[in-house]
Amino acid sequence: MDYLYSPLGHKSIKPSAVNDLTAGFATGFRENTDINLGVGYVNDKTIPVEAIRKAYDYIMCHPQKYRNALNYGSAEGSPNLRQSVYNYYCSNKLGGLSEDDFRGRKIIIGANGATSLLDAFSDLIQPGIVVTSDPFYYIYTETLQNKGFTILPVEEDSQGIVPEKIAEALANIDISNLSFFYIVTVNNPSTILLSNSRRAEIIEIAARLSTKAGRKIPIIFDKAYEDIIHNTGLEKPVSGLKYDTEGIAFEIGTLSKIIAPALRIGYMICPDNQMAKLLVQRTSDIGFSAPLINQEIASWLIDNFLQQQRDIVNAGYQKKATFIKNLINGHLKPYIERYSGGDAAFYFYLTLKNIPVGPGSKFFKFLSRTTGNAEIDGLPEKKPRLVYIPGTICSKGPNAGCQLRLSYGFEEEAVFRKVFSLLAEACKYALE
Ligand SMILES: Cc1ncc(COP(=O)(O)O)c(C=O)c1O
Repeated sequence: MDYLYSPLGHKSIKPSAVNDLTAGFATGFRENTDINLGVGYVNDKTIPVEAIRKAYDYIMCHPQKYRNALNYGSAEGSPNLRQSVYNYYCSNKLGGLSEDDFRGRKIIIGANGATSLLDAFSDLIQPGIVVTSDPFYYIYTETLQNKGFTILPVEEDSQGIVPEKIAEALANIDISNLSFFYIVTVNNPSTILLSNSRRAEIIEIAARLSTKAGRKIPIIFDKAYEDIIHNTGLEKPVSGLKYDTEGIAFEIGTLSKIIAPALRIGYMICPDNQMAKLLVQRTSDIGFSAPLINQEIASWLIDNFLQQQRDIVNAGYQKKATFIKNLINGHLKPYIERYSGGDAAFYFYLTLKNIPVGPGSKFFKFLSRTTGNAEIDGLPEKKPRLVYIPGTICSKGPNAGCQLRLSYGFEEEAVFRKVFSLLAEACKYALE
């Protein structure tokens, strides 16, 4: 006897591709032996523990400003936090935004990070086609698919998603089926920064299609990693909102990468319209608000500490990225066709030369110690295992089978020496 599941329930029965893939590693994962470069964890050392403690103390001592901080909050988000986000954007001209750009727009706080705002959006738009770049953020695309959306991944180059390829991909599609555009501005997994001219072009495409369809076709700019662009030589990103005159652009940010994922603070800057009201309603429906104390802590941190925090975090990631680039060049040169990464966020996305890396491949078996050869796998104690995200999970492109994402957020530099020796050994084994 089973339950009568909803369509989403039915779809969710199948474990996500990543859960499926890592299940084998998760059982018996050995701290300090096995290495997990599959997860998107930030580096623990970047989390400002002392500042968070100070923020908490300050909030408890100033109940006039931080009212009822341990009680329920309002679904739009804490007025303090929304004001702090506004001040931070305007005083730093973040994304080129100023007071004028916030007129007719709203800042709302998600129930549980950027993820909950993305999820809310997908509850409110009629399922159809979602245009995104290839490679794509597999966690959200999988959610969308479970909710009945169809993903249309469009090739990216060194400037992000390619507008001409969007036109090609949409040429044979009935636009009445087009739901929205989902664009990650520092793409996960490739970490390619969407150029400003591309932002303008994509908005123009969505605006043109909206006119043709006779309804608004929204575009979400997910800027989860824009706070951690650590190569200072890159073009300063201009917010997609700057180019939007039609009320179709929604920008989503998060404090997860720059402060702490556990705060679960994500926000959206969007047109102050019916859609904003519905998004707030979804927050109310699923949890009333993000925990108010976390919102107040976030507000205090933005007001008092964020600038300093950004500098420390970005210097740390840039140093680590340079260190890893040297390891890539030192260990993988003969096996690698190209890679992206090292300028922003904390991923490298590698394309190997004709070496498949997906589940079932020799490369994968070597690193999961499932070759069946005791000398390679280790007996009885397995040799160190390495988890990564294979390209087949986040791309439909022709090279997906030979691509992989490595996360360098969490693990320390010393671990990466071991990582690249293992990767080189796995390549050698795959070619034998
Ligand atoms: C592109 C992208 N968007 C959103 C998120 C999730 O953000 P949050 O922690 O605020 O839910 C992530 C996390 O890895 C991400 O990579």
